[in-house]
Amino acid sequence: MVALAEEFGTPLVIYDGGLLRDTMRRYVQAFRAHDPNAEVIYASKAFWAQALLRMAHEEGLRMDVASGGELYMALHAGFPPGKIVMHGNAKDAREIGEALDAQVGLIVVDSLDEICLLDEIAGERGRVQDVLIRVTPGVKPSTHAYISTGQLDSKFGFSLEGGLAAAAVAACRQAANVNLVGLHCHIGSQIFEIGAYRVAAQLLAEFVKEQGHDDLSIMDMGGGLGIAYTRGDEPPPVEEYADLVMESVLAEWDAAGLPRPRVMVEPGRSIVGRAGVTVYRVTGTKDIPGVRKYVAVDGGMSDLMRPMLYGAVYEALLPERPEAEATESLRLVGKHCESGDVLIQEAELPPVQRGDLVCLPATGAYGVAMASNYNGVTRPAVVFVDDGRPTLVVRRETYAELVARDL
Ligand code: LLP
Repeated sequence: MVALAEEFGTPLVIYDGGLLRDTMRRYVQAFRAHDPNAEVIYASKAFWAQALLRMAHEEGLRMDVASGGELYMALHAGFPPGKIVMHGNAKDAREIGEALDAQVGLIVVDSLDEICLLDEIAGERGRVQDVLIRVTPGVKPSTHAYISTGQLDSKFGFSLEGGLAAAAVAACRQAANVNLVGLHCHIGSQIFEIGAYRVAAQLLAEFVKEQGHDDLSIMDMGGGLGIAYTRGDEPPPVEEYADLVMESVLAEWDAAGLPRPRVMVEPGRSIVGRAGVTVYRVTGTKDIPGVRKYVAVDGGMSDLMRPMLYGAVYEALLPERPEAEATESLRLVGKHCESGDVLIQEAELPPVQRGDLVCLPATGAYGVAMASNYNGVTRPAVVFVDDGRPTLVVRRETYAELVARDL
């Protein structure tokens, strides 16, 4: 990290390329151990560098895109359109047209308006599009309210309760240019209590039984497996999650007397989160007697929104003295003109001073993917390291790019 910070500057996002690849492989193996037709779809919103998307393709994953922009990035990376799954709760006509023109494999429909619009636009193009219906089963796993999506009162999808999901099935069956092939359900993100997937599977199997299974042969269970951000976090390993999801779906479908569906999952965070770290340089420290010590770094909310947005907790370490004893309690803050621009409220670190490097582990998911240019701060460079060899995969943004779109 010290050498990389020297070579590429800070803030720098560093991924362990081997760990990324290994996690993708473990995912595919763990799901295919139960059914060779199971599919792992990478949720590109978590981190979408071209190098990563290409790697996901090489490792046999499909790609989840949630907007026209993410679709563009997947196609640009050479992803076969048939392996792309198009999401979004508010797709507009242009994005639907782009998905149809690209001939994406699946579109996940999220509203009755979208079903009508898709039917119309597909009709104009003389195409029939395979779709999944996004169902919200009413399961609320324990996670932050902003990142839980499977409950009844949600902007996403069609609830089982109140008959919305049934209405969506009917609408798809009536639409001449929409070919219903299955259901989708994403109950939330950063989930440790994976038993929630079993509850969801049970509700979904009941629903498929009610509706008739002929055109509901795919069951996409979404993403959501949590990762460790701090030492105390103990999420289940990928294999345990895969066993639980596959066993739950297959057992619930068997119990309902239904033919087994083709299971898909859409992990994002659990593929890229732990593989990435961010390295900052300390720009200065301030000791307020009797109050606390502040340590400021050269990045912050523009490259890592999660502490501010969700109250997410991270830990820090000093790459130059990783084994030194943590004797100071301090607040690690960013460089933005916001009091809330705090990376870590209470960090325990060895003595730190200006010029030191500070590393935040587990920033690989929803870090640079949610980056902004607030305060005219340029977005960081991204490096993949494989067997000790670094490759710059995203260069640092330049000042010129900050004004490039202004007319
Ligand atoms: N599939 C769908 C339809 C989703 O909405 C999401 C995430 C995923 C898959 C991937 O979920 P994952 O495996 O990464 O949990 N920005 C927030 C997370 C938002 C997640 C949104 N949807 C964060 O930083 O925690």
